[in-house]
Amino acid sequence: TYVIGSPCIDVKDRACVEECPVDCIYEGQRSLYIHPDECVDCGACEPVCPVEAIFYEDDLPPDLEPYLQDNADFFEETMAGQAEPLGSPGGAAAVGTLPFDTPLVTAFPPRAT
Ligand code: F3S
Ligand code: F3S
Repeated sequence: TYVIGSPCIDVKDRACVEECPVDCIYEGQRSLYIHPDECVDCGACEPVCPVEAIFYEDDLPPDLEPYLQDNADFFEETMAGQAEPLGSPGGAAAVGTLPFDTPLVTAFPPRAT
């Protein structure tokens, strides 16, 4: 799978969403997250991100490696305010902007603007 790391936090450019042929890039409050089971590894999203937040899982810089599990947790774990995990909705457009982030993203310091 491809993974979105911390450079996306509070930026959310969304250029990646337009490129994804399977609509598997989901939006939280401060970041977007790639669904690891829905992503078909086409790689179309990676070059369009203006802040280089997207990497293939094996190419993650060491400081972004925690985001591999973190992207998965967004779907597999119960996040704040949710009765059950998101699971595999099969398309981000129908889901819209979700009212939560992972604990890792939530704890990320506010980005100076
Ligand atoms: Fe984020 Fe880059 Fe997509 S900033 S929303 S990963 S284009
Ligand atoms: Fe979509 Fe990027 Fe995967 S364009 S299919 S999230 S590699």
